[in-house]
Amino acid sequence: MAELRSRRSNLAVPGSNPRFLEKAKGLPADQVFLDLEDACAPLAKPGARKNIVAALNEGGWGEKIRTVRVNDWTTEWTFQDVIEVVGGAGANLDCIMLPKVQDAGQVQALDMLLTQIEKANGLEVGKIGIEAQIETAQGLINVNQIAFASPRIETIIYGPADFMASINMKSLVVGALHPDYPGDPFHYILMQILMAARARGVQAIDGPFLQVRDVPAFEEVAKRSAMLGFDGKWVLHPGQIDAANEIYAPSQEDYDHAELILDAYEWATSEAGGKKGSAMLGDEMIDEASRKMALVIAGKGRAAGMGRTSSFTPPED
Ligand code: GLV
Ligand code: MG
Repeated sequence: MAELRSRRSNLAVPGSNPRFLEKAKGLPADQVFLDLEDACAPLAKPGARKNIVAALNEGGWGEKIRTVRVNDWTTEWTFQDVIEVVGGAGANLDCIMLPKVQDAGQVQALDMLLTQIEKANGLEVGKIGIEAQIETAQGLINVNQIAFASPRIETIIYGPADFMASINMKSLVVGALHPDYPGDPFHYILMQILMAARARGVQAIDGPFLQVRDVPAFEEVAKRSAMLGFDGKWVLHPGQIDAANEIYAPSQEDYDHAELILDAYEWATSEAGGKKGSAMLGDEMIDEASRKMALVIAGKGRAAGMGRTSSFTPPED
């Protein structure tokens, strides 16, 4: 988990649009995913594969994680998507995103196909990671097996639009709370995905918010999954990127405090600090569990490239 790169913002880019592909290179998203699935019309898919291979091989993506979303295994397109994209640009690609994953077998099928393509193209076996999108009732009831289906899995992603359709939800505003329902109808789904991701030690990613001009509403939805522990969210529009980067990283204050807890606890447990298992940091009592919580926040902050603005000085007695 600690080795995985930050994915606070995951920018969707339709593979059928060379202008958008070019523009995406300069945007400050942690990850881009070049789409061959639902943002690409069936007639445009063959051309989109070629655009994507060219855009990946041209480079200019900086530090961004480069992912391609292929079509799901129930279509006639998946195998060709994977063969063309990984065969043509595998050296310049990090992950394949598999949508509408129903069970572990679908992940294993992609894993085997990737292994063959990697071997055939002289790539290191296991180079290409897998991002699994959970967007159906069946996918959700199998999410635990899906998370453990392959060592290539790097993220489990919530796909709210398809998911809402799959369970017959009576709302068209993706991810927004509904005035007729008192609670958060998405809480159960988000938590199931988060538990599977954490049990497996991979990232949990929230899906899209379609009202792209309403940034405050995006922020409200993003804060709900960020608060639970999700690592990032899709962004469909450049205007959502800064909000996601901010919401899925700790605040500067929380980050500084987490680093302080780590230093203070390390000192408290040391010989010089008195080999204490619990200690006071200001008015707060800290122990081993505080250290674990602080590691999470510090890890997210470090992955997002944050720097400390304070340091720890051992108390004098
Ligand atoms: C994303 O693919 C979604 O269906 O929400
Ligand atoms: Mg979808």
